[in-house]
Amino acid sequence: MAYGIEALVEDLKRLDAANAAPKDLLNQIAPLAERVAQDQSWVQPSFYEVDETQGIGITVLHEEPDHSLLVEVIVWAPGKGVSPHDHQTWGVVVGLDGTERNTFWQRKDDGLRKGHAILKAHHEADVGKGQTIVFMPDDIHSVQNLTERPSLSLHIYGKNLAFTGRSEFDTESNTMRPCPVRAKRPAL
Ligand SMILES: [Fe+2]
Repeated sequence: MAYGIEALVEDLKRLDAANAAPKDLLNQIAPLAERVAQDQSWVQPSFYEVDETQGIGITVLHEEPDHSLLVEVIVWAPGKGVSPHDHQTWGVVVGLDGTERNTFWQRKDDGLRKGHAILKAHHEADVGKGQTIVFMPDDIHSVQNLTERPSLSLHIYGKNLAFTGRSEFDTESNTMRPCPVRAKRPAL
C-alpha cells in the first residue's frame, strides 16, 4: 500500500514530533517526506487551485487540536512566490510537482532594533519532485516559482504557522513585521 498522508501523520505522532528537539527531528522526518512524495495517489486536482489574491493556494491536510503538526500542500502559480520569512517552528518541505526556487537568507544586524532587519542572501536551492529541504525555527527563506507551470510541494511544520509569531522581511527597506496569515482551505 502507498505511503500516504495518514501514514505520515501516524509516524509524526509516533516520533512525538510536537515535543522533540527540532534538530533531532528533521533528519527523521525528511526521509518520510521523500517517501510520501513517491506515490502521489493522495494528491487531488483541487490542490492545484491558486488563491488569486495570494498567487499561491494552500490546502491543509492535517493539524492537531493544539495546532501542532501542520501538514499542508502549497501550489505556486508561475512567477509567484513569497517574501523572506521565518517559521518559528521546525519545517520540512518536499517537492511534489514542478520546481520552486528557495533563497536562504542570513540576518546581518544585531536584532536589537524593533522592526529593523538586514538580510543577505546566502544560498539558493531548487526543490523538485522528491527533493526535501529542512528548516530550523529561525531559518529565513523566500520562495519563487520561476518556471512557466505551477509547482506543488508538501509542507510539514511543528506548529500551525498562524500561531508561531513568525516574521516577514523586506530586504529593500531593511524592515520586518509579523508575517501576514495566509488564507487556507481544507482538503475536499
Ligand atoms: Fe516558508
